[in-house]
Amino acid sequence: MSDFATPRRKADTLYFQLAEELAQAIASGLLKRGEKLPSIRKLSTQRQVSLSTVMEAYRELEDRGLIEARPQSGFYVCNAAQLFKAPALTQPPSAPREVVTPAALWPYHASDIHKLKVDFGFAVLSPELFPIQQLQRLLAQITRYQPRILAEYGKPPGDMELRRHIARRALAWGGHFEAEDVLITHGCIEALNLCLRAVTKPGDVVAIESPTYFGLLQILESFQLKALEIPTHPQTGISIEALELATRNDQVKACLLIPNFSNPLGSLMPDENKKRLVELLASRDIPLIEDDIYGEFYRHGNRPRPAKAFDTSDNVMLCSSFTKVLAPGMRIGWVVGGKWTRAIEKLKFINTYSTPLHSQQTISRFLENGGYDHHLRRLRRAVAEQVDGAVDAIRRYFPADTRLNVPQGGFALWVELPEAINTRELLDLALVEGISFAPGELFSPSHSYQNCMRICCVEAWTTKHERAIQRLGEFCQQLLDRGRAPDRVQSAAQPIG
Ligand SMILES: Cc1ncc(COP(=O)(O)O)c(C=O)c1O
Repeated sequence: MSDFATPRRKADTLYFQLAEELAQAIASGLLKRGEKLPSIRKLSTQRQVSLSTVMEAYRELEDRGLIEARPQSGFYVCNAAQLFKAPALTQPPSAPREVVTPAALWPYHASDIHKLKVDFGFAVLSPELFPIQQLQRLLAQITRYQPRILAEYGKPPGDMELRRHIARRALAWGGHFEAEDVLITHGCIEALNLCLRAVTKPGDVVAIESPTYFGLLQILESFQLKALEIPTHPQTGISIEALELATRNDQVKACLLIPNFSNPLGSLMPDENKKRLVELLASRDIPLIEDDIYGEFYRHGNRPRPAKAFDTSDNVMLCSSFTKVLAPGMRIGWVVGGKWTRAIEKLKFINTYSTPLHSQQTISRFLENGGYDHHLRRLRRAVAEQVDGAVDAIRRYFPADTRLNVPQGGFALWVELPEAINTRELLDLALVEGISFAPGELFSPSHSYQNCMRICCVEAWTTKHERAIQRLGEFCQQLLDRGRAPDRVQSAAQPIG
């Protein structure tokens, strides 16, 4: 038979063999996560193969999610996260629904929290990651030299210097707004509350990612707003096509999203999608409330741009805070409200009037003294190491068909376990040993995702955390074995005779 009749098998090609060899080196740990691969030219010389063979091999490994190209830098072994099967686009119910969140989010909530040995549940970074002494010194100076600061109300829009810093820093990602456009709030959560109140009334429908941060669901519930869950991809965020369909009739009155490193998925919406999102919503007169609280936690390249960067019609309300990046205890957030700025200012006046001045000035001085970028670089590195530790451990100890999207930023891991595992039950088992995480059902108003969990990597990875993941893996196995136990099998089987 001629060569035409029997095309060469892929496995016989040179590039594929090279790709296989490299894949094995990655699997065995010979090539480590994050390690740079030889340049295409170098490998082609080393292996005496053509440049195109190496390029093909690298492309094959990219397709398998094992390596990634970094602009102007070369090819790197991916974060272990990509070695998992990634979860697919979510498929939430398509009708809007009222939001009813549980009275207590976790069984241990508040009072039992101190009993936890390893807390993967809360998205609050450990105090060691923050420059507490510097902040303490600045706070002491401010209260010593301006004692009246504790006896004064601040002015409602906030400290002008701090607002200037926020506006100036936004230039780096293409944000063009003035200090006067920034309103300082009590954390990001107040910013989101104010925005929703400015553009909705009870009974309105708000489109959200699915899954989404339970704090957003609680706000919707408190304002008696209905949630419309939109299918969301773990890597690229909300499906623009699904949103386009959902907004064809007039039902959606606002959209509340976390495009950069969403909580809990960790998804990062590509710029192209952000642009389409902003254009779509502007054309349908639907305001976008954007929560950008995790935007600084990127692992590669530059800070991702918020959707606000594509906003030419003042239709995006950008909300963020210094909670995750600098000082959770200061409770300083902010909002750039676009065409709703005045309405939001009025609501701020009614809601809490102003935000504590000493907190605002402490943050402002810290930004001014120039240590902020250095701090962010260290923070990003530390957080990435924590995430890597968790990803490695999950790979080692969790059931074989676990799905995990290794996010390009942030510190939350969304883990999809085999269907038979209910993560509420898993949590009950874990809490007995002082281990916690957030069960998946908290992240959707339809209480979907019962086989999912969010693991927050909030402190330096140690053997204690390794052991906790190992125990979680063992509990998963226990639940799987129980599902397969003979009494269950018998009850499902047809009665004999
Ligand atoms: C997505 C998201 N938005 C807002 C918040 C709350 O922010 P803040 O503490 O600044 O009010 C959180 C806290 O976990 C969050 O994850």
